[in-house]
Order: sequence, then structure tokens, then C-alpha cells
Amino acid sequence: MVTWEALETQCRQCRNCPLSETRRNVVFGVGNRQADVLFIGEGPGEQEDLRGEPFVGPAGQLLDVMLSVIDLDRSRVYIANIVKCRPPRNRDPLNLEQDACIGYLRAQTALIKPKIIVCLGRIAAMRIIDPKFRITKQHGLWFDKAGVQITALYHPSALLRDPSKRPETFVDLKGIQEKIKHLCPDSLFRPF
Ligand code: URA
Repeated sequence: MVTWEALETQCRQCRNCPLSETRRNVVFGVGNRQADVLFIGEGPGEQEDLRGEPFVGPAGQLLDVMLSVIDLDRSRVYIANIVKCRPPRNRDPLNLEQDACIGYLRAQTALIKPKIIVCLGRIAAMRIIDPKFRITKQHGLWFDKAGVQITALYHPSALLRDPSKRPETFVDLKGIQEKIKHLCPDSLFRPF
């Protein structure tokens, strides 16, 4: 299996798709490489592209609040995206771009071996759970894939645009907290 160092080096030099031509930084991922919970977003926005770190803009600030609601923070989870380079004007990443990039996320997932994966938004859920995933109907439901428990939340950007979705997301977050208690009782207290 590839090492973290080799994977990160390869990813930072990647030229597999046209997003590499317009990116300022590759946004590889951050957090705890031994985390039980992996959060997967869609792709970097402007702030992330500038800083090389996922979820550091307004959506990221809301993600931090969402994590704190269930006693988590960035040091206890890993956060990555479907695509590692910013799509121009924050458009949805194209299938071609996702296909070119998904191998990095697969390798990250194999190294982390999370028990729980949380997809942030429709794009991640369609890629990770089911191409026909309907975020409005299926957020908060749980899916088992090869023994990993997977769910999806509304994307924090969607919650910024439409605060009326927040109560449902609070319920979904509590569901994640319960799942963590069952599957990884040590994780909240593990000294990382
Ligand atoms: N939105 C995402 O999906 N990922 C980020 O890293 C930032 C915003």
C-alpha cells in the first residue's frame, strides 16, 4: 500500500485533469490520519484554493460549528474532498474531473480505514453512496459499504443559503453522534 508521504507528493504534482491548470494549491486533506470518521466534501472553493486546506471559507466555519455540536473538532476527524483542485467559479466538478481524482480519495480512505464516512452534500453522496442519491430525501440515512457506515448531510454551503434546512441537519448530526458512540466508543476520548 502507498504511504501517506508518497500519496501526498503524487497528489501535489498531479496533472491528471484540466483543474490542475487553474488551481493555486492542491487541497489534499487535513485532520487525523487515524480518525474513525472521515468527512468528504465536494471540492475546494476560493479560500481553500488560496490556502491549500479544505473547508476554511464560510462553509468551513459552519462545518466547525456542526462538528462542535457532536463534540468533534478537526483534530479528531479527517476532512477531504472528491476533487483536490478548485473547479472554476465553484461549479460542480465534472465526472471526468472526479474520475481523474477519485483514486487519491480511495487511497486516503484505505490508509485511514474509517468506520464512518460522512458525505457533505449531493456531489459527494452521489459519488460515494449512489449515483441516484437524492440529498433532500436521503440525508441522514445510513448505508453499509464493505462494513463502513456511510451517511450524507446537507452541504454546509446549502445550509448557509437555506437556514430552514438546519433543524433536519441537527437531527442528522445527532444520528452521527449515536453511531460514533456505538461503533467507536473510544474515539471521542482517544488521546490523538
Ligand atoms: N466546499 C467543499 O465541498 N469543500 C471544501 O473544501 C470547501 C467548500
